[in-house]
Amino acid sequence: MIIPIFSLLFLFLTTGEAQLVPGFYASTCPKAESTVREVLHKAMINETRSAASVMRLQFHDCFVNGCDGSLLLDDTPTMLGEKLALSNINSLRSFEVIDEIKTAVENICPGVVSCADVVVMAARDAVALSGGPDWEVRLGRKDSLTASQEDSDAIMPSPRANASALIDLFAKFNLSTEDLVALSGSHSIGKGRCFSITFRLYNQSGTGKPDPAIDPRYRMELDKLCPVGGDENVTGNLDATPILFDNQYFKDLVAGKGFLNSDETLYTFEETRKWVVKYSEDQGAFFDAFVKGMLKMGDLQSGRPGEVRTNCRVVNGPKTPMELVSDPWLAF
Ligand code: HEM
Ligand SMILES: *[C@@H]1O[C@H](CO)[C@@H](O)[C@H](O)[C@H]1NC(C)=O
Ligand SMILES: *[C@@H]1O[C@H](CO)[C@@H](O)[C@H](O)[C@H]1NC(C)=O
Ligand SMILES: *[C@@H]1O[C@H](CO)[C@@H](O)[C@H](O)[C@H]1NC(C)=O
Ligand SMILES: *[C@@H]1O[C@H](CO)[C@@H](O)[C@H](O)[C@H]1NC(C)=O
Ligand SMILES: *[C@@H]1O[C@H](CO)[C@@H](O)[C@H](O)[C@H]1NC(C)=O
Repeated sequence: MIIPIFSLLFLFLTTGEAQLVPGFYASTCPKAESTVREVLHKAMINETRSAASVMRLQFHDCFVNGCDGSLLLDDTPTMLGEKLALSNINSLRSFEVIDEIKTAVENICPGVVSCADVVVMAARDAVALSGGPDWEVRLGRKDSLTASQEDSDAIMPSPRANASALIDLFAKFNLSTEDLVALSGSHSIGKGRCFSITFRLYNQSGTGKPDPAIDPRYRMELDKLCPVGGDENVTGNLDATPILFDNQYFKDLVAGKGFLNSDETLYTFEETRKWVVKYSEDQGAFFDAFVKGMLKMGDLQSGRPGEVRTNCRVVNGPKTPMELVSDPWLAF
């Protein structure tokens, strides 16, 4: 047993590139996946929007140094985390739902299920429980030991982004134009703030005029919701059916009723339009492409060393020799 323990320890300390597999917890924590879904379901009964908010966390976690739970770390005196980065501050929410899920899985299998995997499972469940597709996720991620506000600021796209900038950004992560359009379909659920759209209502690209791509009647509604000088924290629906995961989002884009500039631009740009039209007409094709995109995005990894955090908000403290001996990672 000495050799396997030694090599496991060696692996644990030197590589972060985990082999992701479906059913990773089947033997170490057989109830992990059902527990995640149960707790998320309860959270959705308390607040329907938490599905959207939790699902969004996968995107904001995975794009910044891989799906490693870095997004979940609170700031410390020596580390500016990602929660207060430009795209996240006053915007990302439902971290307490992730905490509830993590507590529930810690209660049944302490120290086994990573926070990064919790995010990926919960994002999948959020879609499935909102009427969208259900799929098997690959698991076995480790949680990062650090987070970077700077990296998040440099990477995460602005709601002002146009389709060509989004195509380039997604390509950096080996995500195709089709993946970009399908994954943007996540905006089939949830809400956005006036803060994210006032520029396009009143001063698109510095023209002093609204974005001409917005349907005039829809623009009147948005103007009422988000008047000049109004409360920019007021929220509006990202599509006409904001609690149902369906292809309404794409129908809205075709009708000029996309909420965000980054949404409507997918229809106004030639290269992305064909996918928008396709998904607006074929929900099954959207669901298939969405699942493919979520799996690809879920595979992004930094290759840095990691751990299974006990509390998703903080890295584990240094281990005592006793804790090391009883570490479940060394127990097989
Ligand atoms: C393509 C580039 C994307 C841009 C520019 C973008 C931008 C945004 C913005 C600006 C908001 C509203 C935030 C606010 O006003 O507070 C939002 C909400 C949301 N985003 Fe994205 N997003 C993108 C892609 C994605 C992807 C890939 C996913 C997930 C797979 C996602 C999931 C969501 C969800 C579910 C919400 C609603 C969250 C809630 O209601 O709390 N987004 N996004
Ligand atoms: C219920 O939802 C509210 C937001 O509407 C949230 O602040 C609160 O933390 C949630 N409570 C539980 C127990 O999840
Ligand atoms: C898209 O946005 C990028 C970055 O803001 C800008 O440089 C580019 O000119 C825009 N492209 C088009 C076609 O509007
Ligand atoms: C994208 O794919 C290339 C070639 O397969 C690979 O070298 C690169 O690491 C990938 N990039 C990301 C971000 O996964
Ligand atoms: C519109 O945006 C431009 C460029 O960002 C800025 O110079 C101008 O002052 C803005 N106009 C208004 C009315 O806010
Ligand atoms: C939105 O609310 C937050 C507090 O939740 C506040 O700090 C912020 O200044 C508000 N932002 C805007 C644009 O009104």
